Amino acid sequence: MRAFLSLLLMGVCWAKPLVYVLATGGTIAGNSASQLSSAYKAGTVGVGTLLKAVPQLKNLAAIQTEQISNIGSQEMDNATLLKLARRTQALLDRPEVHGVVITHGTDTMEESAYFLDLVVHSKKPIVFVGAMRNASSLSADGPLNLYNAIAVAADKQAQGKGVLVVMDGCIHAAREVSKTNTTHTDAFKSLNTGPLGSVLYGQVHFYMQPTRKHTFNSVFNIASIKSLPRVDILYAHENDNPDFIQAALAKGALGIISAGMGNGNLYPSVLQSLAGAVARGVVVVRSSRVGSGEITQPGEINDAKYNFLTSDNLNPSKARILLMVALTKTQDLKTLQQYFLEY
Ligand code: SIN
Repeated sequence: MRAFLSLLLMGVCWAKPLVYVLATGGTIAGNSASQLSSAYKAGTVGVGTLLKAVPQLKNLAAIQTEQISNIGSQEMDNATLLKLARRTQALLDRPEVHGVVITHGTDTMEESAYFLDLVVHSKKPIVFVGAMRNASSLSADGPLNLYNAIAVAADKQAQGKGVLVVMDGCIHAAREVSKTNTTHTDAFKSLNTGPLGSVLYGQVHFYMQPTRKHTFNSVFNIASIKSLPRVDILYAHENDNPDFIQAALAKGALGIISAGMGNGNLYPSVLQSLAGAVARGVVVVRSSRVGSGEITQPGEINDAKYNFLTSDNLNPSKARILLMVALTKTQDLKTLQQYFLEY
């Protein structure tokens, strides 16, 4: 009996952490006819094939897989996003599951990662990963990115840090990271803060902590979100016009994110039209098309006069995610603004 118990204990001690890989598609699961072609199709390879390309993964973790979708991330819709968040929550609620890795297209990875950062409640690691070169490319980056993502998900240091994005040897916080280049393998940057850490051939090093609320201490919870409201992003430019604002209102948008010029500045007729939208009960958030830096309140625009909110330093895509989630809880402008300062 004693020998049996010792063997059992040794088995438990030696057991690799159980990590689930949820696959959604993207370039990491894409392939092309030639190793040297920029023409390819994202989301064609199944999760089993992805893992087979990296046999070394078995040294890091016991891995289970599920295919959530197999799409280019430009096709990600609210239904798939909600399904992904619900499945992640259900898996992490199981005591034997150590962490979840989500393979995802890079185009909208920052949006999905931030959504899960806001609504999934767990201290266990949740790691997004993708690739800039498809699986058939010469020097495809997917296999090493996947190896590094599993290493981070299996590492205790990744606990309690919110949703992470692992790309090109860097570990980023979901709130901070964005795609900054259309094709380069080092496309992912945390422009305002820098990354949280690095991961080189599975060696994990953290140097920073996220300071904003996320996952386990978020007031938002996937368990109570049934659907997401319409929030549109409007991109500002010279000689702008308010036509798209009218279209957003006609289509029933509850919120508008303005990707404004510089510090969230607006063309005069656009400013007046957005003020009219607020008067009709639509929430307007000033963000910026610049890509980094915060929107000051007030700036050249007097937000108090127009009842505009500002996105702090969230880019328009992330501001849209936060506003959609926040609108499932309240329409009170003061509370909504506070969320933009806390999350
Ligand atoms: C996509 O986002 O699905 C296509 C691009 C990529 O994954 O790099």
